[in-house]
Amino acid sequence: MYKIGLIPGDGIGPEVTREAMKVFGAAAAQEGIKYETVEYDVGGDRYLETGEVLPDSVLEELRGLDAIYLGAIGHPDVKPGILEKGILLKVRFELDLYINLRPVKLYPGVPTPLKDKGPEDIDFIIVRENTEGLYSGIGGFLKRGTRDEVAIQEMINTYKGVERCVRYAYELTRKRNKTNTLTSCDKANVLTYAHDLWRRVFDEVGEDYPDIKREYAIVDATTMWMVKNPEWFDVIVTCNMFGDIITDLGAMIQGGMGVAASGNLNPESVAMFEPIHGSAPRYTGKNQINPIAAVGAAGMMLEHLGHSDAAAKVEKSISDLLASGKIKDLGAGRMGYTTEEVGDLIAQGL
Ligand code: IPM
Ligand code: MN
Repeated sequence: MYKIGLIPGDGIGPEVTREAMKVFGAAAAQEGIKYETVEYDVGGDRYLETGEVLPDSVLEELRGLDAIYLGAIGHPDVKPGILEKGILLKVRFELDLYINLRPVKLYPGVPTPLKDKGPEDIDFIIVRENTEGLYSGIGGFLKRGTRDEVAIQEMINTYKGVERCVRYAYELTRKRNKTNTLTSCDKANVLTYAHDLWRRVFDEVGEDYPDIKREYAIVDATTMWMVKNPEWFDVIVTCNMFGDIITDLGAMIQGGMGVAASGNLNPESVAMFEPIHGSAPRYTGKNQINPIAAVGAAGMMLEHLGHSDAAAKVEKSISDLLASGKIKDLGAGRMGYTTEEVGDLIAQGL
């Protein structure tokens, strides 16, 4: 019996979470997977009412779960940064969810802005380091607010942090068995300390994977190739900041935020799944937002829990629906169906 925590969150978060869990539940029933859910009321509304962002008691409970599902975080009346740092980044760091897994897959029937590229060209996975780099929060100000001000934000790379991240990426590349190519996306030519360590560890761990071909792509060139030759990529492993940036580019080439899903994983313990998109406050309660990314994240949750067959069914149902051409446009309010109806279609398609 799995225990799954739900953080529906802000804006359209609850709507997409409902559809994601509808499909999760339908797939679980077919496969005989037993689970219970616990809902946590965290997000902008709670913060505005009580001043609490993520209470320690909730954080402690999250540690004991099998998986967490997050809808979206972000509230128009809350200063940017408070909820992102206080909820999303805090869970990632405190639960040591050191992998952020972001598949970039163009489903048949989905338009991509890349000219002359199709589903056979756009199918790779980005493994983003999720607990270090420029996100570690180490730094500070000197003489803040004066003309002599100094601001420092450190890029932290630890041997352990890089090692476990790249090892995960090698394992994933092997398991995926597509072209057996792992690309390190870094800036080793300029960040000659932080990414020197990154590259050395990438190569060192690579010695344990003689069957995996190593490629190197400097981050700026990576963005160029993701547009020009996305078919070159199989699995990309990268640091936290670069991963943040290139996965938004990845989301766009796979058809946009309506389809991009992700998982924050600690392969040894709990994991948190979420669509990449935000809380889209202006669509709140309208039943117009596209839930496909959210449903995709629920599929990733099944995979993480060890139910590859159920995960494959969810992915196939999404893929079939998109290929059918029923959904006119992936954008909110333009689908030709409500949020709920899209959830129903995917659940039926299982
Ligand atoms: C993401 C988001 C977050 C990040 C923000 C909301 C803190 O952009 O998940 O990519 O920067 O990691
Ligand atoms: Mn981002």
